[in-house]
Amino acid sequence: MANQILSRPANPIQTLTFLNSTCSLLKKSPFLKHKKFSLSSATPIRKSITDFQIRASQSHTLTRNYCADSVVVQEDKSYGNKQIISVTSQLYGYILSNVREPEILKKLREETSSMRGSQMQVSPDQAQLLAMLVQILGAKRCIEVGVYTGYSSLAVALVLPKSGRLVACERDTNCLEIAKKYYQQAGVTHKVDIRHALAADTLKSLIENGEACSYDFAFVDAEKKMYHEYFELLLQLVRVGGVIVVDNVLWHGKVADPQINDPRTVSIRDFNKSVTEDNRVSVSMVPIGDGMTICRKL
Ligand SMILES: C[S@@+](CC[C@H](N)C(=O)[O-])C[C@H]1O[C@@H](n2cnc3c(N)ncnc32)[C@H](O)[C@@H]1O
Repeated sequence: MANQILSRPANPIQTLTFLNSTCSLLKKSPFLKHKKFSLSSATPIRKSITDFQIRASQSHTLTRNYCADSVVVQEDKSYGNKQIISVTSQLYGYILSNVREPEILKKLREETSSMRGSQMQVSPDQAQLLAMLVQILGAKRCIEVGVYTGYSSLAVALVLPKSGRLVACERDTNCLEIAKKYYQQAGVTHKVDIRHALAADTLKSLIENGEACSYDFAFVDAEKKMYHEYFELLLQLVRVGGVIVVDNVLWHGKVADPQINDPRTVSIRDFNKSVTEDNRVSVSMVPIGDGMTICRKL
């Protein structure tokens, strides 16, 4: 049991399937002695499994109070029995309750929530991390590829200094209208340079304009099949020590499933592999939101 990979369920039905398989694994485990174990099959709601003992190895007995779906253990034994938190909806609610989301971002998020494509918006915890990276870097010049209604760009613009500048690349006019409204309400319009065009064209024009190596931070969150191209262009635009953050690198978990080979999944999987092997950057893939890779230019 301790070496099973328990993947994170994405919706209530998957949650129930996941719990059923977890329960049957637990019941089958010769190492498990449980005192309290309940799961209602009538409702897809996770129930706690508490106070049970897992003999993780013959020489080591662990006693834990935890929920069955809150921990993932790598199946490759060379990683030991390292337990990694798996973000359940309950745990994610807790994470969100600890995010400091500015009122203006909350308002924008709420307005966007009923719109088509609202799932594309970064989550409040992701936006907070982006803003913190910008602050840690002391960034003044930033680029965003894929603005939508402006949630992540506004999070960045809010923490930029007065003289800071964010080049915001977006092709959709309607989305930009909402973004502009919020930049104005937040008093950051002067910091945002909106480029209504295909992002790759905008990035090329910045390079042609002599702005190579002059940006501190970039966030990529647009067309997935273009990630390689965006990355190459941004590597030219970002200074040494600058950071490029790429969103959706886990692609709803599909990148890890060899059975899934649709063009977008394959493209992101290839991108992840090439970035990991790219010695022009240091990298860290972070399981936040749909997965973000943080790359620092060397
Ligand atoms: C995932 S959404 C961005 C979400 C945004 N970062 C946020 O947190 O609210 C992707 C956006 O990229 C835009 N987009 C897609 N392909 C593009 C391209 N080639 N050039 C410019 N914008 C593009 C889409 O119109 C969409 O609004």
